Amino acid sequence: MSDTTQILLNHAKAVIQNAYAPYSHFQVAAVIRTDTEQYFSGCNVENAAYGLTQCAEANAIGTMVAGGERHIQEILILSPTDNLCTPCGACRQLIYEFATEHTMIHLATTQGIQLSAPLREFLPYPFHLTDTSKK
Ligand code: THU
Repeated sequence: MSDTTQILLNHAKAVIQNAYAPYSHFQVAAVIRTDTEQYFSGCNVENAAYGLTQCAEANAIGTMVAGGERHIQEILILSPTDNLCTPCGACRQLIYEFATEHTMIHLATTQGIQLSAPLREFLPYPFHLTDTSKK
């Protein structure tokens, strides 16, 4: 594991225990490293109205934006079980908004990183705003 992925995992392990998941009991943490070498963490926050649940990735992105950053170099998503937490479709699009062509996604368990791949493999043919321009 590289130094940065080890830092990402350490942050994620610290945050995952704060995840609020009383309904699914599936606590998730996400940690971003930006192009400015800053780290931003998030965890999932569920709600009794299930559809209002916020994913860990979305909350990490919100914290990053509030911190004045815009570019995700890599993001690690930590699952509480041996089953990897692959980012949901909505979160793939949220990550894409702040991605570069090199943005990496790491999927981890508490044992370490199990799978790493670029965002473009998770989200081929992403939606761009320019796609809405009239011809
Ligand atoms: N979850 C995330 O935090 N990120 C994802 O990409 C997939 C799912 C959370 C939402 C919910 O609190 C729990 O996992 C079970 O779906």
